[in-house]
Amino acid sequence: MRLVFLGAPGAGKGTQAVKLVRKIAVPHISTGEMLRELRGGDSPLSREIAGYLDSGQLVPDDKMNEAVRARLAKGDTAGGFVLDGYPRTVAQAQALAQTLSENGQTLDAVVFFNLHRHVAVERLSGRRTCESCGANYHVKFNPPKNNTCEQCGGELFQREDDRPEIIKRRFEVFQEKTADLVDYYTNKGKLIEVDATAGPQEVYSRMLKALGLSA
Ligand code: AP5
Repeated sequence: MRLVFLGAPGAGKGTQAVKLVRKIAVPHISTGEMLRELRGGDSPLSREIAGYLDSGQLVPDDKMNEAVRARLAKGDTAGGFVLDGYPRTVAQAQALAQTLSENGQTLDAVVFFNLHRHVAVERLSGRRTCESCGANYHVKFNPPKNNTCEQCGGELFQREDDRPEIIKRRFEVFQEKTADLVDYYTNKGKLIEVDATAGPQEVYSRMLKALGLSA
């Protein structure tokens, strides 16, 4: 399956992507994760990316399109993929369609995780991420035992962009630049909406049902 996961910050895209790729055995391509890996260095590019991430701004379309095009050219995507956090603008959606068309492919569906903003803000404010493997926890909804990562024992930290003022900016950016994709993909007959206002397992069940997959 070739899928895009769409939703506001904190809607649960990453959480659901991790669960689904275990089941359908395709790569999970998170552009946020790709960017966080790139920001780690000390190059001008790393510093530029850190500037976008830490202020809640989008990385320019041309850079993102190039990075995703290169990622989709890798052999492991032949059987499908879950794209998490891309596209985020109509220009990115058009670039993705172009890339897929050149590969003789189309998207199967765009899953839109719909969640009220105040719930998403609570999820982001309590998120803790493993610095080693990137696993996500939540201080209230999915608390880690012993305050370390249960999968690899890594230290947990709060993402720089999960600070209140940056969360606010990310929601503004979502409204300004990304929300139009709901209509864009609805008009293309690709959008599947999932009510994300429930615990992770219930949201997962809803998503499987919406995609026509067995539990
Ligand atoms: P990115 O990392 O993609 O951030 P985001 O879209 O804001 O999404 P999040 O990762 O914050 O949330 P999520 O929906 O994945 O929720 P999660 O499952 O983690 O991007 C970061 C930045 O990179 C952007 O701001 C931008 O600068 C840049 N960027 C990325 N892609 C780009 C692009 N295409 N173009 C330009 N720039 C780009 O869940 C959140 C929390 O809630 C966790 O603690 C989790 O445990 C908890 N949780 C999840 N589901 C549930 C549930 N059902 N019930 C209770 N708790 C839950």
